[in-house]
Amino acid sequence: MSYNCYTKESWKGSVITCPVPPTLVTCGTVEKPNIFTVAWTGILNTQPPMTYISVRPERFSYDIIKSSGEFVINLATEQLVRAVDYCGVRSGRNTDKFKDTGLSVQQAGEVGCPVLEQSPVNIECRVREIIPLGTHDMFIADIVRVDVARELIDPNGRLELDKAGLLAYAHGEYFALGRKLGSFGYSVRKKRRKSDNKGKGKRKL
Ligand SMILES: Cc1cc2nc3c(=O)[nH]c(=O)nc-3n(C[C@H](O)[C@H](O)[C@H](O)COP(=O)(O)O)c2cc1C
Repeated sequence: MSYNCYTKESWKGSVITCPVPPTLVTCGTVEKPNIFTVAWTGILNTQPPMTYISVRPERFSYDIIKSSGEFVINLATEQLVRAVDYCGVRSGRNTDKFKDTGLSVQQAGEVGCPVLEQSPVNIECRVREIIPLGTHDMFIADIVRVDVARELIDPNGRLELDKAGLLAYAHGEYFALGRKLGSFGYSVRKKRRKSDNKGKGKRKL
């Protein structure tokens, strides 16, 4: 095995961890929704399923989420990249971002705020705790329901997220996820020998 080693310069601490997911967060109500881009998000716990979004208090969405205690994280695709950027540089305080972008919402299944119809995965969240951190407040939330696109579920019920064309955000730039390099645990999995397949019909390798 051969790896690159690097010589380094030391910089002061900064938010350089990447890539992160540039998500579209919806809040408010179906009648009066708002949407904004959030990249400071991720998973906090598996069971119960928990996530967070870090939001600056000056965002229009901040008070909406704080008072309702609910929001939806909508995963973004290549098709949505322009809308992702737009919703991250324009405020719902001054404009209707749904009208501007052509995006639309529908009622969520579990929470009172809407989900984004054009996103293949809607993660419905209920706020548990708000932690002020500095520039941002962290909304820690339970994931109470997830809505996934039927088009991405294979005949065995497996979600084929690799087919969704999900976006990544790295160092101020948007990227489409690239080619698959492996899957969970593949580094320790035994390789299947060709002879194992004899007489077993067609298999995906
Ligand atoms: C790629 C990207 C990622 C962003 N991530 C966050 C974030 O994690 N938290 C945040 O408070 N604002 C974030 N923003 C900025 C908000 O989306 C932006 O200020 C937006 O206009 C707020 O909308 P609102 O005023 O309608 O709530 C991001 C913007 C972009 C373009």
